[in-house]
Amino acid sequence: MAHHLCVIPGDGIGQEVIPCAVEVLQRALPDLAIVEADAGWACFQRTGSALPEETLARVTACGAALFGAVSSPKHKVEGYRSPIIQMRQRFDLYANLRPTRILWSQASQMIGRPQPVDLILVRENTQGLYAGRERMQGDEAIAERVITRAASERIARVAFELARKRERKRVTIVHKANILPLTDGLFRDAVRAVGAGYPEVTIDEMLVDTAAMMLASKPAQFDVIVTTNLFGDILSDVAAVWGGGMGVAPSLNLGEGMAIAEPVHGSAPDIAGQGIANPCGAILSAALLVRHYWKLADVADRIERAVYGTIESGVRTPDLGGQATTREVAAEIARRI
Ligand code: NAI
Ligand code: MG
Repeated sequence: MAHHLCVIPGDGIGQEVIPCAVEVLQRALPDLAIVEADAGWACFQRTGSALPEETLARVTACGAALFGAVSSPKHKVEGYRSPIIQMRQRFDLYANLRPTRILWSQASQMIGRPQPVDLILVRENTQGLYAGRERMQGDEAIAERVITRAASERIARVAFELARKRERKRVTIVHKANILPLTDGLFRDAVRAVGAGYPEVTIDEMLVDTAAMMLASKPAQFDVIVTTNLFGDILSDVAAVWGGGMGVAPSLNLGEGMAIAEPVHGSAPDIAGQGIANPCGAILSAALLVRHYWKLADVADRIERAVYGTIESGVRTPDLGGQATTREVAAEIARRI
């Protein structure tokens, strides 16, 4: 059975890094069937829609998509909505997986003696403060933070299923239930209840501010982190520093029978068009799709080994201190597949 993928490069460096990820994927997965689709700011200016119906139809037909990045207008533009946020909602992509694995050479520059960081942050992707319930009431600007038991349980299942298959089998619940006893109390208790069905997995919990400090100072202690939407957004960027920063950080939006992989970075207008964007984040995102959606762990392992091997060999873009171009890094990764 062929593997179907909808490819949406988007704006800026999305146009540069996504073709690299496609090239590597095709090398690793010869039966890949690809369709391209359009989304983003340039698409909005051309067609009046940042996410045309045709793109949604193609993603639906494929089940899997690889999304680059889009530029957002600096000020509110009538009719423009972020395509990735629209797709997360439309396809109910409720889990956002953001793994970080340490780059030894990068880390040794930063802290001298690197610790073996290998963690995965599982972020609830549909509610919390991003539920879209913001309003003005008199002179008060109010944002509602929505947590349900059902959504907390399903994100917990994703976290425990991941942890069960990992070596350390540990889940850390990150919350702020001391200040938010209803919302985060519900989240924590629902996650713990699901965890009771996984006796082989160790559960602990941490307040979000402590977790931020620990991720910045002692990241090696974490295995799987499960948390709510906003906390996950912020903490995953802290964690990403250990993996080499924005150019390397991958993510996967996962729902029932659908997934969209996307590098964590944006369209990077400051370097777009120069041929120096790091393609590793896009390629590692593709590997997440291979691992968690198509369930081809051996293929994902090969892609990840090729990426980390390339970085450690010194073939790096300028964001990682190297002099290689986007194409040179991609070619070296493809060669190692
Ligand atoms: P950004 O991630 O595009 O760039 C931040 C910094 O990281 C820049 O200095 C950039 O050059 C660098 N960088 C990012 N990716 C890189 C890569 N692959 N290789 C080397 N360096 C890289 O974030 P920024 O500047 O805040 O946003 C730029 C635009 O992207 C905005 O319009 C923003 O709305 C959009 N954006 C889109 C996202 C998405 O589509 N998921 C996510 C974040 C931002
Ligand atoms: Mg973010």
